Amino acid sequence: MSAPAPAGGAETVVVKCGGSGALDVQRLCEHVAELTAAGRRLVLVHGGSAEMARLAGQLGLTLRQLTAPDGVVTRYTDAATLDVLTMALAGRVKPALLTALDRHGVAAVGLTGLDAGLLRARRKKAVRAVVDGRPTVVRDDRSGRIVEVNAALLHGLLAAGVVPVVSPPALAEDGEPVNTNADRAAAAVAVALRASRLLFLTGAPGVLTDPADPASVLDTHRLPPAGEPAPPWVGGGMTIKLVAAREALVGGVEQVWIADGGAARPLAAACGDGPGTRIVLPEPAPVGRTSP
Ligand SMILES: Nc1ncnc2c1ncn2[C@@H]1O[C@H](COP(=O)(O)OP(=O)(O)OP(=O)(O)O)[C@@H](O)[C@H]1O
Ligand SMILES: [Mg+2]
Repeated sequence: MSAPAPAGGAETVVVKCGGSGALDVQRLCEHVAELTAAGRRLVLVHGGSAEMARLAGQLGLTLRQLTAPDGVVTRYTDAATLDVLTMALAGRVKPALLTALDRHGVAAVGLTGLDAGLLRARRKKAVRAVVDGRPTVVRDDRSGRIVEVNAALLHGLLAAGVVPVVSPPALAEDGEPVNTNADRAAAAVAVALRASRLLFLTGAPGVLTDPADPASVLDTHRLPPAGEPAPPWVGGGMTIKLVAAREALVGGVEQVWIADGGAARPLAAACGDGPGTRIVLPEPAPVGRTSP
């Protein structure tokens, strides 16, 4: 998944644009224009749950969820849902970002994981999950985990002064598209590019110890040791975001931040010390004394 760091020493920052509607696209693009003009290499990766829900509603499709035995909730992506996901992300969210970037004078190229094999995934063939309250093995879910990123393609665009704007779906081993979580896609892209920072812009000002109270935002959130559950106040889409944050840090990304997508200068944590929550790996376990 890794590729040589780009020539010239410019640091790459990957920004996951989420926020379920809370993202301020104009402010984001204004800030992207400023940072790219100053020579920073930026890659945007976007989700779009709010737009997907809106489109599904317009088409009369009910979106469903899978709850894994460990409690992590993901999208149940049957063929119709994959169609809606692709139409919402590639047909609505991405064009909105590209036109706003263009208005701010930023040259950007929109890509899904299908373009030049940008995101290759291994499809989850049988998913053990609780569906509508019943434990089930789901076999028609079209989602997967990213196993390869075409980093050379992104480096080529960055070297040409272009901002890549990336989203699911990804390409599975059978040549068909699969859904892949956008937070984890952003982490995979950041690792593959050897990015110095990964910034998740979302609908909260960072990690909150009380999700109902924005004032409870943490400056730093230390992840629990691998295999241990997240604190009870972490829920919803934040659970998988912290999984993605861990993957990025373990993969060598120096700094991972979660910050407010509606802020006046949303990319502040891409080059400074917040505002937002910096995510850090657990302290290494103390080396135990060996008995004589
Ligand atoms: N402890 C917590 N701290 C902060 N946010 C939390 C916490 N627990 C749950 N959340 C919820 O998680 C949300 C972020 O995840 P969500 O999936 O909704 O957005 P996103 O990933 O930014 O956007 P998208 O899914 O559209 O890409 C927050 O807006 C908040 O509602
Ligand atoms: Mg999300």
